[in-house]
Amino acid sequence: MKLWSGRFEKQSDGIADDFNTSLPFDKKLMPYDIEASIAHCKMLAACGIIADSDADKICETLLLIKQDILSGTLIIENAEDIHMFVEAELIKRIGDIGKKLHTARSRNDQVATDFRMYLRDSVIKITQKLSGLITVLTDIANRHTDTALPGYTHLQKAQPVTLAHHYTAYCEMFLRDSERFFDCYKRINVLPLGSCALAGTTYPIDRKMTAALLGFKQVCNNSMDGVSDRDFAAEFLFCCALTSMHLSRLCEELILWSSGEFSFIEFDDAYSTGSSIMPQKKNPDMAELIRGKTGRVYGNLIALLTTLKSLPLAYNKDMQEDKQAAFDSEETVLNCLNIMQAMLPSVRINKAEMKRAAKGGFSNATDVADYLVKKGMPFRQAHEITGRIVLYCIKNNTVIEKLSTEQFKSFSDKFESNILNAVKLENVIGGRNSLGGTAKSEVKRQLKDVTARMRKLYKNNGLII
Ligand code: ARG
Repeated sequence: MKLWSGRFEKQSDGIADDFNTSLPFDKKLMPYDIEASIAHCKMLAACGIIADSDADKICETLLLIKQDILSGTLIIENAEDIHMFVEAELIKRIGDIGKKLHTARSRNDQVATDFRMYLRDSVIKITQKLSGLITVLTDIANRHTDTALPGYTHLQKAQPVTLAHHYTAYCEMFLRDSERFFDCYKRINVLPLGSCALAGTTYPIDRKMTAALLGFKQVCNNSMDGVSDRDFAAEFLFCCALTSMHLSRLCEELILWSSGEFSFIEFDDAYSTGSSIMPQKKNPDMAELIRGKTGRVYGNLIALLTTLKSLPLAYNKDMQEDKQAAFDSEETVLNCLNIMQAMLPSVRINKAEMKRAAKGGFSNATDVADYLVKKGMPFRQAHEITGRIVLYCIKNNTVIEKLSTEQFKSFSDKFESNILNAVKLENVIGGRNSLGGTAKSEVKRQLKDVTARMRKLYKNNGLII
């Protein structure tokens, strides 16, 4: 029998029950539901709304129910949702006393509370994985401050950079992701319990006490907002989407770099797959899957935003759709971060090929122009002359660093023999020591800085990494 059956004259249809139930996915909320119910029950007793002895009985039984579920002796089934399951089981075990738990509470504030508690833990899990990935990236970067490769714009060779510089760029992205998750945590960590169905309650409850028991920093200030708000879930999904986007960009580069045309890297066999027909193939499936799953993570965000669009206040059953989106994005992002962190250190880096490519594509042309500027020529004019030098090289099938001082001089008398040094790969990279630039000393500073900011961020958020 349903816990709300009093007003009904007949049972709901089986297919309506199947359609209505959230139990197959919200059973994940079980530990949070029990913890929140215990806190609620203690508060009810402290406020004199139920007797201490009843509260003790309820709390003790709730803990036993949890134990039985965890040990597998009690199976979560045959209920509309996890909240109904736990309450029905409580009543089954202790009868009328159990029926007191739902005083001054509704499933509307209950589900919002459980969901927020779940997402608090999700944020912790994801940020922990993010810090692991940042650490892996900084470790690799520290070993590759001298590894040159082409930097691209429009996927055309632009200026040479180092692999350390490139990976440190990703550290910045993943650190921003961590910051975003921690920031989102602040808005998750607000307690809706006590909002009741929507309008508050006539009982003298103490919402701040419940919040303190459950570790919530604040309570929702408006009960209608408390039960209607799913901004925190949308925000969580957005944080997941952005992290996925960053992962997918890194994956795309790794996939390109592993192709025969680039040959910059080789994936380890342990993170590659073969083809069922072409014996020679070694495919970067892990990176492709991470890239591909980004679509679903974006989809979850759009799905929830669309579900919430135009919803009137306060609770509507549409909101039950919030959980699958969040659970799926959480799991997907955690899996992707996990595999990326494991796979990256095993990627073999072909320094020779990276260097060869870095020298191509006239990626030192800007340095020729800069040379002339430093000799007093306006930049536009220097750009024009350098363009002519590039054209000359293309027509004569050569490269800038193979030109003689005399050949340079034929384009401008400002050239002297030290132009030959200025266009060498080491100097092209080493010279870019402006803040944020690709020179070794500067990239080392960036690495130190990003690591220090990561430590500080995690420490400020109470996490040891
Ligand atoms: N299973 C529901 C959900 O996930 C719980 C809240 C139900 N509240 C209600 N008034 N029907 O949203």
